[in-house]
Amino acid sequence: MRFTEDLPKVETLQSPRKAGTEYHDINEDGKDMTQKICILPGDGIGPEITAQAVRVLEALEPGFEMETALLGGAAVDATGDPYPEATRKLAAEADAVLLGAVGGPKWDALPREQRPERGLLGIRKHLGLFANLRPAILYPELANASTLKPEVVSGLDILIVRELTGDIYFGQPRGIENRNGERFGFNTMHYTESEIRRIGRVAFEAAGKRNKKLCSVDKMNVLETTQLWRDVMNELAPEYPDVVLSHMLADNAAMQLVRAPRQFDVLVTGNMFGDILSDEASMLTGSIGMLPSASLDGNGKGLYEPSHGSAPDIAGRDAANPLAAILSAAMMLRYTFNKEEAACRVENAVKKVLARGLRTGDIFEPGMTKAGTKQMGDAVLEELG
Ligand code: IPM
Ligand code: MG
Repeated sequence: MRFTEDLPKVETLQSPRKAGTEYHDINEDGKDMTQKICILPGDGIGPEITAQAVRVLEALEPGFEMETALLGGAAVDATGDPYPEATRKLAAEADAVLLGAVGGPKWDALPREQRPERGLLGIRKHLGLFANLRPAILYPELANASTLKPEVVSGLDILIVRELTGDIYFGQPRGIENRNGERFGFNTMHYTESEIRRIGRVAFEAAGKRNKKLCSVDKMNVLETTQLWRDVMNELAPEYPDVVLSHMLADNAAMQLVRAPRQFDVLVTGNMFGDILSDEASMLTGSIGMLPSASLDGNGKGLYEPSHGSAPDIAGRDAANPLAAILSAAMMLRYTFNKEEAACRVENAVKKVLARGLRTGDIFEPGMTKAGTKQMGDAVLEELG
């Protein structure tokens, strides 16, 4: 388990691995350089959508070594632990992790330590995945799928950079206790300046490669922790003279995201605000079923997962949208394996499938062709050629 004293240094989002590394390469120290991916299908629709993303990876990069393990409710059922030892070992050894989704009503009544979400939080913390990138892009073909007016969302392309291993999510002390004859619930919000600085650097660098606008979201009018957040972001700004930094209070940011979302390029915020704002941003694009995410440790390792949940209501019916999972695999090719061209190929294939009019239920509109999970995967593979 990595604690905050042991922060990895983040200089760049690029993988330290060299592009074009041969498979089963043996480096100078005689170490096997085979590229390993840990597959964690999880619960609900997780296994179905992950299967399609795996097909895409296999088609593009037949040399990847892939191994599957249990996480979340599936792991609780099999072992009693949402992040069992065998999964910890495999995830720690792998270069990248591909995750489906975890959770479902079946496990809702379990004690907190056994809830599937604990598995997700556990793997994020264990692997030190502090930088969560959640892009929200509106594909022109889906402009009508958004609940917002097309003129408000068309051309939308924003990136939320969410801190993922700190904040009130992990802060101690926490709990529910009996105090003075009644129950008392408490959590602790905290950030060290080094935690803020490393996520700030990721965000500034990402903005530098995009439209060079970074908006940091906090609640400094009420919370001291986020005053420190704002101070540290301001201290970093001179190191990135080409990026324009602005600040916004979290409540206003929630409003601006639906009022005028295209004012944003990159947003950077803490774990809890990032959780809320990234769900909100996903809806601007029409469906959360389209949004991938990457959670990075700053040294090239990453966990890649759709931003959506396990959708137990449609699980096992070949109805889920696999595109977020497939786009997550594209992010893996880009951020862990430094295969920009392969990543773009996947993203272009997804665009072509949408242009062909194929739609799963979540993005369906009259006049389009309704497709199942596997059929969408087939179509992406066809477009990859
Ligand atoms: C997310 C999810 C998780 C979170 C849950 C499932 C623990 O909502 O990835 O956004 O709150 O981080
Ligand atoms: Mg969330």
